[in-house]
Amino acid sequence: MPAQPNRRELRQTLRAARNALTSAAQHDAAQAIAYHLTCLEAYTRAHTIAGYLANDGEPDLTPMLSQCWRDNKHTTLPVLHPFSKQHLLFLRYCSATAMTTNRFNIAEPILSCADIQLLNQHDMILMPLVGFDKKGNRLGMGGGFYDRSLAALPAGDKRPVLVGIAHDCQQVDALPVASWDIPCDVIVTPAGVHNQKYTQSQQSSPQMV
Ligand SMILES: Nc1ncnc2c1ncn2[C@@H]1O[C@H](COP(=O)(O)OP(=O)(O)O)[C@@H](O)[C@H]1O
Ligand SMILES: [Mg+2]
Repeated sequence: MPAQPNRRELRQTLRAARNALTSAAQHDAAQAIAYHLTCLEAYTRAHTIAGYLANDGEPDLTPMLSQCWRDNKHTTLPVLHPFSKQHLLFLRYCSATAMTTNRFNIAEPILSCADIQLLNQHDMILMPLVGFDKKGNRLGMGGGFYDRSLAALPAGDKRPVLVGIAHDCQQVDALPVASWDIPCDVIVTPAGVHNQKYTQSQQSSPQMV
C-alpha cells in the first residue's frame, strides 16, 4: 500500500489542480457555489457573513458577496492581524470599502478599529481551503491562520457556521488531521453541499453530494 502523502505534498498537488482550472470553469464554479450557499438555511438566517477574496485558484466569491448585498446581509473580509502573528481580524466590507494589499499580495480592507467584527458577531464564516475530506476536515495553505483565529470560539450554540469553500478537485478520501485543525461544519463546492452532520431537512435545496 502506498504511504499517505504528507500535508506539504497534498498542498502541492491540490493547489496545482485548482490552479489548472480554466477561467470558464472558475466562472461556473463561482456561480454554482453562490447558488448552493444561498440555498442553505443558515444563509437565510444569517445577518453577518465573512467571505474572502480569491487567491491561488480559490473559488471566486464575488457573485456570492454581491448576492449577500442584494439580500441586505453584512459582509466582512479577513485582514492580517497587525500584532498577533498568523491571526486574522475580520473587517466590514462593501463595494465602497477602502482597500490595501497585504504581504501575500491579497487585497484587504484598510484596518480601522470601528470596522472590526468579532468572530462571534458572525453567523457564517466562508473559508478558503486547499483540501477537504468527507468528515469536513480542512487543509489550508499551511499558515494555520483560520485554525488560530477560530481556536477561541466557544463550542456552544452561538458560534458561526464554518463553511469550507472548495472546488470539487480539492476533495480527498481522508486528510491527515492535527490536534489544532478546526474542521468545517459544511463544505460547499460547485457540485453541492458536503457534510454528514448537515441533514437535507436543514436546507431548502436537495443538492447533497
Ligand atoms: N490554535 C493554534 N495555536 C497555535 N499554533 C497553531 C494553532 N493552529 C495552528 N497552529 C500552527 O500553525 C501551523 C500551520 O497549521 P496547519 O494546520 O498546518 O495549516 P493550515 O490550517 O493552513 O493547513 C502549524 O505549525 C501549527 O502548529
Ligand atoms: Mg490546519
